[in-house]
Amino acid sequence: MIKSLLVEDKRVIKSDFNDVVEASGFEEFPYVGGAAPRTNVVGRVFTANESPPDQKIPFHHEMAQVPEYPAKLFFFCEVEPGSGGETPIVLSHIVYERMKERYPEFVDKLEEHGLIYNRVLGEDDDPSSPIGRGWKSTFLLRKDSLVLCVQIIIA
Ligand SMILES: [Fe+2]
Repeated sequence: MIKSLLVEDKRVIKSDFNDVVEASGFEEFPYVGGAAPRTNVVGRVFTANESPPDQKIPFHHEMAQVPEYPAKLFFFCEVEPGSGGETPIVLSHIVYERMKERYPEFVDKLEEHGLIYNRVLGEDDDPSSPIGRGWKSTFLLRKDSLVLCVQIIIA
């Protein structure tokens, strides 16, 4: 029903969208630890990414790199682009099945050993990169929070 409202009613604006999100009853999930530089538009509504349109955003699980990640995502498009701008939703279990078919030895190694991501963050956001969020905004820290940030990185 919410999907239908947002897709079919062209008059929905971002504050309406925020009202729908608020009315959903889902607890607010702060954007802490995510990689994308984002701007808060209104309420719980954020831009998806501040990087230029020519930057590709790779397939990813939203905030999978943090211990707690969102279970629900809402999408809103205020101005439909003339071309491009798609947000593909990919079913991970199908990607897994295809990877297992094409690269069984690689998938076996992943399953046996796991995978570790290392991410190096700059101090400030780099809006030219789709994963350019700096450490201060990633962890919602101020400049005087440097000691806390170092502890997080070491831990
Ligand atoms: Fe994302």
